[in-house]
Amino acid sequence: MSSSDPDADFGVLSELAHGFMASQVLFAACDLGVFDLLEEASQPLDAATVATRLGTSTRGTRPLLDTCVTLNLLRVQTLSDTALYSNSELASTYLARASPRCQCHMFLYLAGTTYPCWAHLAEAVREGRNQYQRAFGVGSDPLFAAIYRSEGELLRFMKGLQEGWTLDGPALLTAFDLAPFAHICDLGGGSGALARLCASLYPACHVTVFDIPEVVQMAGTHFPLQEEEKDRVTFQAGDFFLDPLPEADLFILARVLHDWSDQKCSKLLARVFQACRAGGAVLVVESVLDPDGRGPLTTQLYSLNMLIQSEGLERTAPQYRALLRGAGFDTVSLRHPTGTYQAILGSK
Ligand SMILES: C[S@@+](CC[C@H](N)C(=O)[O-])C[C@H]1O[C@@H](n2cnc3c(N)ncnc32)[C@H](O)[C@@H]1O
Repeated sequence: MSSSDPDADFGVLSELAHGFMASQVLFAACDLGVFDLLEEASQPLDAATVATRLGTSTRGTRPLLDTCVTLNLLRVQTLSDTALYSNSELASTYLARASPRCQCHMFLYLAGTTYPCWAHLAEAVREGRNQYQRAFGVGSDPLFAAIYRSEGELLRFMKGLQEGWTLDGPALLTAFDLAPFAHICDLGGGSGALARLCASLYPACHVTVFDIPEVVQMAGTHFPLQEEEKDRVTFQAGDFFLDPLPEADLFILARVLHDWSDQKCSKLLARVFQACRAGGAVLVVESVLDPDGRGPLTTQLYSLNMLIQSEGLERTAPQYRALLRGAGFDTVSLRHPTGTYQAILGSK
């Protein structure tokens, strides 16, 4: 990284050090509804109008909008000395709530929950454990009691997680042909977003979403199934470490194993192997680390996030293979569709 100009090197460091401010600009603009307002407006708006409509100060709104322009979240044009702002294509696609590809709820989850936990990264590294106690004053045994510490927090988590599947879901679910599996169980399937996508991609399958009772209840209230989905996707409440699992031809474990220690993953996978019909399989969806653990950067950051927010970590492909083979799954293959996540299929 070093160049002949030491100040240029410091520039890299400085950008790194201030990266959190850029994240906060994105989070605050989402939170305040900047992108929704500009998407709904029939024409570009000046800062004073944005401030009036959002109920914010002009003093704060103008620099926020201008920084969003520099970050390519907004566009600006000047007419008669007045700066007029509109959404960039990036914002229209991923930040306006009306967009089917909106990722705003995940950013709000990162802002409200992940960010306060990351303030304690050094403590997490020192202690080797998550930081809910320091960040929110709640214990994390059991882990999901901390993650779901209020109804609002549970809903925010579910909304945030489901958004990602609008981007990566189709490629992940078609990385392997899942058509041979008639009954699919999405273990820890949350709101049912991936299950619904699976049902739409594979018209002959039935998908059971298995998750803890609070999540199943919240899914019924806030993520209702369409009439035509109701006989294809069903929910079952239970604890996947303790309660009987539904019998299925394919179990999906998406972003589940990374929450847990090797020991708990082995226990869960052994239960999945038992419940899986002969000729069936397990599909693990995770962000996979390079074999030496030194990349990709996003997955390394996710792994630190697992330290800070869970009991687990992100793993390498050999580590996932070892876990799956240890539970009895024999052929284990990994595919990398585009995006952050990979699909790993283990056959029984
Ligand atoms: C990180 S989230 C992943 C959700 C979903 N699969 C996705 O990728 O969007 C982990 C899920 O596991 C569920 N979960 C955690 N512990 C569980 C347990 N003991 N039994 C059943 N589900 C559990 C959580 O409620 C949550 O929905």
